[in-house]
Amino acid sequence: MSIFNNWRSVVTVAAFAVGLAASPRAVAAPRVPYAFMQPGSSVDRQASALLARLTLDEKIGQMVQVDMNAIKDKNDIAKYGFGSLLSGGNSDPADISPAGWARMYDDFQSYALKSRLAIPILYGVDAVHGHNNVDGAVIFPHNIALGATRNPALVERAARVTAAEVAGTGIDWTFAPCVTVPRNERWGRTYEGFGETPELASLMGAAYVRGLQGGKLSGRESVLACTKHFLGDGGTTDGIDQGDTRCDEATLRRIHLPGYVEAIRAGSATIMVSYNSWNGQKLHGHRQLLTDLLKGELGFRGFLVSDWAAIDQLPGDYRSDVEASINAGLDMIMIPNGPGQENNYVDFINHLKELVAAGKVPLARVDDAVLRILRVKLEMGLFKHPFGDKNLIAQVGSAAHRAVARECVRESLVLLKNQGRVLPLSRQATRIHVAGKCADDLGYQCGGWTIEWQGRTGQVVSNGTTVLQALRREVKPGTTVTFSTNGLGAAGASVAVVVIGEPPYAEMKGDRTDLTLAPEDVQAIRNCKQAGVPVVAVLFSGRPLIITDVLDQCDALVAAWLPGTEGAGVTDVLFGRHHPTGKLPCTWPRTMGQIPINVGDESYAPLFPFGFGLKY
Ligand code: GLC
Repeated sequence: MSIFNNWRSVVTVAAFAVGLAASPRAVAAPRVPYAFMQPGSSVDRQASALLARLTLDEKIGQMVQVDMNAIKDKNDIAKYGFGSLLSGGNSDPADISPAGWARMYDDFQSYALKSRLAIPILYGVDAVHGHNNVDGAVIFPHNIALGATRNPALVERAARVTAAEVAGTGIDWTFAPCVTVPRNERWGRTYEGFGETPELASLMGAAYVRGLQGGKLSGRESVLACTKHFLGDGGTTDGIDQGDTRCDEATLRRIHLPGYVEAIRAGSATIMVSYNSWNGQKLHGHRQLLTDLLKGELGFRGFLVSDWAAIDQLPGDYRSDVEASINAGLDMIMIPNGPGQENNYVDFINHLKELVAAGKVPLARVDDAVLRILRVKLEMGLFKHPFGDKNLIAQVGSAAHRAVARECVRESLVLLKNQGRVLPLSRQATRIHVAGKCADDLGYQCGGWTIEWQGRTGQVVSNGTTVLQALRREVKPGTTVTFSTNGLGAAGASVAVVVIGEPPYAEMKGDRTDLTLAPEDVQAIRNCKQAGVPVVAVLFSGRPLIITDVLDQCDALVAAWLPGTEGAGVTDVLFGRHHPTGKLPCTWPRTMGQIPINVGDESYAPLFPFGFGLKY
């Protein structure tokens, strides 16, 4: 039986599992959100009519997505008729302001419209926690924090704001949500998931898709979602990024598939295929999972895009990579290389033409891929309005958008310890000493995928509020606030607030076999404790860290994840303006030796269990 038929049970279980106490009332029949999902719809007919007019070269061009840095001659965009361009993690215009991004988008689109049939390009970016490549955009907490909120309605609003800011720069596609189910915190992409259970991936992933795509794909503030990375990216052995997920099919379906079932039901227009392997076979060449399961059993009618140069990892030469990936069910290939580099977009186009001519890739497979792409482009209204709406630029980074992000920060904080009710803090304390390398640093606060692929410490964005800045604004005039990174100077203060955590990272750069706190963080806590003052530790991290050894030196401990630009959301909770409501989206281990440890394990004795969270 198709898993798609029993989605009702997935949703009901999901609601209970994350404590939303949903009453198992009869769930309404699924309303099919978009026309591209309906066989025989108007976009189906329009897409078929357009497909019939395309040459083979033009069809293959639609299956190509090129990174902007690979484009040396913009005339190639119309010459080859690319279906899409993207800005990978480090591919940005010279001017990274909202207006700078909007100008770049319109410029590339103007070249695309010079092709014979003027088929507009889709432009994709990784807006994975706000429009995070744009200086001035609101940077939201990463997905692990959104999972801690247990609030899908809020997550949908966060995605709606993200869509509005992406659309504000003209761009029409973000490679989000990531519905990975991270099962081993050694993995550098743990924070990109909503938590360690399929229920969180399902509830939050579907909400995120609804927020991004809105009620209609043609909405001027709607952008395409790209649910990723299919399938099993969070289950690799030892949490090795792009590694091998070794499990039986029942486990793969139980843990890693529900997020896609719900995202497809919510109408995700695109899905990105994962680098990892399943039992030794790369997903980018896996016909059973990409075509039989995803397009067949689950009935996915959007299109599949590869990951960054991911088909190059398939066994054999580039031609065999092209043959295997397209025949497995990939519809669009993300190609970061241009002429003069190996496996570039001209190579891809030539290989695919020859493979079709030789009958090694059926023309019907190419037609299916292009039909899927054209359906989505038509339903977005891209032919009617290929350029961005300049009226939307002004809303990027608006106060109203920042308020939504601040609400996400507040609701994501998880109170792990509060000995002697040291929290909430008093606004009229005599002196509050702030310490820690993360207390006044937006880079630590935002984490990876911020302006740069890996993020960076320091003033990574020009507009944001650090915890120290927010705390200074929160206290009454009579209260003194002092600050030292190392915690020295705390003696005599009413309380010390120590903000510590992980340096920014993304993907494989974040894979770690040791998750213990950095020495400078342990020292900052120790210096404050030895000063004889109550210590409130605030942890910025993309995952649980091993804090067992310092827990006794903290009177209070707050897991703040990677909050983004709105640091005032942290002080809202520290001062009790809002009470902590966050619940752990992942099990918090005592030691490295316990990892992997996940809710439902037979032997389960973590430091803090999945779902844990104290209140005032
Ligand atoms: C990266 C990531 C993927 C991202 C893509 C484009 O390697 O795996 O999540 O969307 O490339 O930047």
